[in-house]
Amino acid sequence: MQTLNLRVNGEMHELSVDVRTTLLDALRQHLHLNGTKKGCDHGQCGACTILLNGKRVNSCLTLAVMHDGDEITTIEGLGSSDSLSAMQQAFVKHDGFQCGYCTPGQICSATAMLDEIKDGWPSYVSASLTDTPELCSEEISERMSGNLCRCSAYPNIVNAIAEVGADKS
Ligand code: FES
Ligand code: FES
Repeated sequence: MQTLNLRVNGEMHELSVDVRTTLLDALRQHLHLNGTKKGCDHGQCGACTILLNGKRVNSCLTLAVMHDGDEITTIEGLGSSDSLSAMQQAFVKHDGFQCGYCTPGQICSATAMLDEIKDGWPSYVSASLTDTPELCSEEISERMSGNLCRCSAYPNIVNAIAEVGADKS
């Protein structure tokens, strides 16, 4: 067992975990933050995406003990049922989910992805490695390709992200 501190959604937590505990299991089982979903548990579906020090990661692929002192934001920290974030509102408006299982990961990923574009990070489909990428549907689809939706709400998800991205720019 090892003790560590995590700041999750702005609140400090001291945890005592088996060193083999993933960050995903620490969030869900130790802190009871069940908004973050376990899909594949193998880094293939993106359902477990959270923000780690502001960057998106698959929380099933990293161990909790590697993150002592780190800042974590889960879907519960992005908005609440009476105060949805802009991205959450856009997913509702554009019907960007069906069963909703992938949605927390999609929204965390989409939120971080817009910052990556704003910061000028290129993707595989970006025309230039140095210019700020254009927020087109091809760019959004590529950047969201790590988040699978078995219900295939993809076109609506892309529309939701495009709207938030356009409002931010
Ligand atoms: S549960 Fe982590 S990528 Fe699927
Ligand atoms: S809304 Fe069902 S898996 Fe995406």
